[in-house]
Amino acid sequence: MTIPYSSSPSPFSPAAVTEVVAPPSGAAKPRLTFLGTGYLGATYAICFAELGYEVLGVDVDADKIAKLSAGEVPFHEPGLDLLLRQNLAAGRLRFGTSYEQAADFGDVHFICVGTPQQNDGMSADLTYVERAVTSLAGALTRKALIVGKSTVPAGTASWVQQLVGKHAAPELEVEVAWNPEFLQEGHAVEDVLRPNRLVFAYESPWAGGILYAAHKGVFDLAATEEREVPVVSCNFATAELVKMAANSFLATKISFINAMSEVCEVTGADVTLLARAIGYDPRIGQRYLQAGIGFGGGCLPKDIRAFQARVQELGAGESVRFLHEVDLINQRRRTRVLKLATQLLDRPFGPAGPDLSGTRIAVLGATFKPNTDDVRDAPSLAVTTLLHKAGADVHVYDPQGMDNARTVLPDVTYEPTLDAAVAGADLVCVLTEWGEFRNADPTGLGQLAAGKIVIDGRNCLDPALWIAAGWEYHGMGRS
Ligand code: UDX
Repeated sequence: MTIPYSSSPSPFSPAAVTEVVAPPSGAAKPRLTFLGTGYLGATYAICFAELGYEVLGVDVDADKIAKLSAGEVPFHEPGLDLLLRQNLAAGRLRFGTSYEQAADFGDVHFICVGTPQQNDGMSADLTYVERAVTSLAGALTRKALIVGKSTVPAGTASWVQQLVGKHAAPELEVEVAWNPEFLQEGHAVEDVLRPNRLVFAYESPWAGGILYAAHKGVFDLAATEEREVPVVSCNFATAELVKMAANSFLATKISFINAMSEVCEVTGADVTLLARAIGYDPRIGQRYLQAGIGFGGGCLPKDIRAFQARVQELGAGESVRFLHEVDLINQRRRTRVLKLATQLLDRPFGPAGPDLSGTRIAVLGATFKPNTDDVRDAPSLAVTTLLHKAGADVHVYDPQGMDNARTVLPDVTYEPTLDAAVAGADLVCVLTEWGEFRNADPTGLGQLAAGKIVIDGRNCLDPALWIAAGWEYHGMGRS
């Protein structure tokens, strides 16, 4: 499908949002629905119930809904299970599969469905957004606000308005707003309850008023903690771009430091000290400068590709051409461990690639980062696949991601413990910076391993400690 592009008119300023808007349902506070209960929607639904709203989470996946209704979060996110159970018990939170029920229940409907990369290209696939919007719009029987949260290409909000115009009865005057999210997995509960900013795009005082009312819980919590939550009020195009720009900037920062780590390797410098030294400059900052095997996950890699595809369509491709380089640097990180492993194990690097047959390698970490069970586009699993394809006997351990990893990469051996993965290994590769690995005892592990060589793919170990325990230590971009 092609998304037409038209920039929306200037929004009403937040100052215009002074009137108290009565929720169309007649409830005291707006009743909220979250359409799509994947990682984003489920987290928001649970946290907004915690903030005191009546919430309905809706998904077409009946299994997911059954789990959530039974108090089970279908993914690993610290703190979310408890909030789910507490809010189900309090009666503020429900889950269902029916859009009619959503339409009947809600005043403000948040679109939280996935926007994956298309199979045959770099663009975002908006099929799920279209399905959610048209299903809901057709079922509405009173005025409501439909709010886009999913990460989308520029122009989507106006396109959603057109879909609503086609599928909802005109006399209902259903409106659309945009409110991008900035959740980090492993930190998502805090990010929803205590966001570092909110971005609102709406086109009438009514829409602004009810969107503010739908976030009053966030502002009230901040007030009790003597914090402020900055609100950026903008038009649809800006709200859509904020998310893409933020993720592009983060991806660029990571690839920048990874590029520096390549330079460090040929000059004998240490990228961790380099990052620390440049990061003391407040204009640069210390965060997102951790060199390693690169970024992964369900957002950054697909978002920078979708962004390039959309900007290219809009005729400004040159402006984001650097993101192609960001992606290339990131992909290169994944082969770095393979090359290093081949060299350290003294194996041949033939025309068909390296030959690691006859070696046993322990891989510590399968998730794309710690404190999650998410293995989507995980650099650790990409490296594991390369090691396996090169003929190594790979034994993987991850504190939370084993079940998901097994479905993506069934051909390697999964071990129940860290010790079992390391036992008999010629080489240990730490590919996700879980606390369990950072705090592991190198002396004890040294007694289990066959060869005391470690590749620290996330620069998360203390080299002095490992070297003192007799290990040959190799970080990323460290001399
Ligand atoms: C990201 C954005 O941070 C978030 O704002 C947005 O809403 C969704 O995408 P997330 O995918 O949860 O969140 O992961 P993030 O914590 O940003 O990490 C992304 C990847 O970058 C991970 O693989 C991580 O290991 C890697 N990373 C991060 C580095 O390699 N170095 C760093 O310094 C930071």
